[in-house]
Amino acid sequence: LLTRLGSERWYIRALAPSDAEAVLALRVDNKDFLEPYEPVRPDSFFTLEAQRSQLEMGEKQWDADLAYAFGIFDAGSDEMVGRVALSNVVWAAWRNATLGYFIAQRFNGKGAATDAVRLACDFAFGQVHLHRVQAGVMPRNVASIRVLEKVGFRHEGFSPRYLNINGKWEDHEMFALTAEEWDEDGGSLS
Ligand SMILES: CC(C)(COP(=O)(O)OP(=O)(O)OC[C@H]1O[C@@H](n2cnc3c(N)ncnc32)[C@H](O)[C@@H]1OP(=O)(O)O)[C@@H](O)C(=O)NCCC(=O)NCCS
Repeated sequence: LLTRLGSERWYIRALAPSDAEAVLALRVDNKDFLEPYEPVRPDSFFTLEAQRSQLEMGEKQWDADLAYAFGIFDAGSDEMVGRVALSNVVWAAWRNATLGYFIAQRFNGKGAATDAVRLACDFAFGQVHLHRVQAGVMPRNVASIRVLEKVGFRHEGFSPRYLNINGKWEDHEMFALTAEEWDEDGGSLS
């Protein structure tokens, strides 16, 4: 199983507990930037202990094929610039995951999210053989909607009060991709 996938400029690789310091720095540096797009985080979330325990849990979930969390890295400097994850994985007759991602503010607008989402889809369909990846986005998050459109996600519908974001039940637009569509496009590697 490939746990590292790359484009020319960025790569994604499985996160490990040893990434706790880098993940904490990323989250602390981007706290204000990310706050409008995330669930409410207690102060204790922004500690090394909390980040390490999240990464330990993430490793267990990866091994159980329940979630796959990746760091996103600048291929030139190996600096961590964001995170992309396939979560809430269900197998059996669904083979579905939910997609989430963020990019550090100072790396925004350089195509990192688009590449990382493509690579995560390569992993989902090409490595672990999920059948469907879905992503929910708040209507006002136009940059994120653009990322999904660039990668080829299809708009499926509107989900009122879908997620609690920054303390409020926020409506989301729902996007998805199935393996058939990904294969038709030849994945990101073509
Ligand atoms: C959304 C996010 C992941 C985008 O990351 P990024 O690396 O800057 O994305 P990319 O550079 O790959 O692509 C962004 C696209 O949105 C476009 N865009 C950015 N801001 C825009 C705006 N205000 N209006 C219209 N388009 C916009 C860019 O021009 C680009 O499209 P293009 O390639 O056609 O020019 C990043 O801003 C982020 O982490 N936001 C906070 C967390 C978040 O929203 N996560 C997703 C939750 S669903």
